[in-house]
Amino acid sequence: SGVGALAGKHVLVSAGGTREPIDPVRFLGNRSSGKQGSAIARAALEAGARVTFVAAHLDVAPPAGAETVPVDSALQMRDAMLANAPGADAVVMAAAVADFRPAELLGSKLKKRDDAQDPVIALVRNPDILVELVARRNAEEPSQFIVGFAAETGDEQGSVLEYGQAKLARKGCDLLVLNEVGADASGAERVFGRDSNSVQLLSRGGGDPEHVAGSKDEVARAVVRRISQELAASRG
Ligand code: C5P
Repeated sequence: SGVGALAGKHVLVSAGGTREPIDPVRFLGNRSSGKQGSAIARAALEAGARVTFVAAHLDVAPPAGAETVPVDSALQMRDAMLANAPGADAVVMAAAVADFRPAELLGSKLKKRDDAQDPVIALVRNPDILVELVARRNAEEPSQFIVGFAAETGDEQGSVLEYGQAKLARKGCDLLVLNEVGADASGAERVFGRDSNSVQLLSRGGGDPEHVAGSKDEVARAVVRRISQELAASRG
């Protein structure tokens, strides 16, 4: 198709918040709007890429032109990402994946009973999808470019940037889009649901972080520019 910087490339993007089922009608969720991930998919499409969009729960419509794969829970997202990763030139893990899920999925609705104790929901860790994608890439497809996201706060032990660098190293992705979340209660509101963003792009290859402030579309275009530059440099 097109003549954009990503013409002929396949980009896999995840977005939105996963829902972890408790019983047939209830779930544990998060406040992710899916706006930043959708913006990245849109920017990749504008650059001429073929885009597979693995969508958990979004407040926005998935971008027209992407092949959308709807998912609900973290385990479903992991399956969809690992199924679509082979052959992708770049993978962007923008989804807010629940770190924990209820240990058991109840077959029928949790009931209120006056005579019984209040229920306790035990949680177990979800797999880290980004780490699994990096492990697959390292084993099978070393040229694949993988982008992760992080929302960090600074504290006495370290700055936001230091926590970001540590996360980049731990996850093993090539680029980390680092969001600074304020330590105060309103911090989450600065990231979730908003149309604008202020991020640092940290690369595994080192170099100075690139600060990008603007709309989520502008942040998305900066991420897509980095992907394009990387793919041009590594494959010509
Ligand atoms: O560890 P943390 O949740 O801060 O890492 C954020 C990054 O890791 C995001 O790119 C997110 O999509 C990804 N992630 C994941 N699987 C999880 C948790 C986070 O892929 N279980």
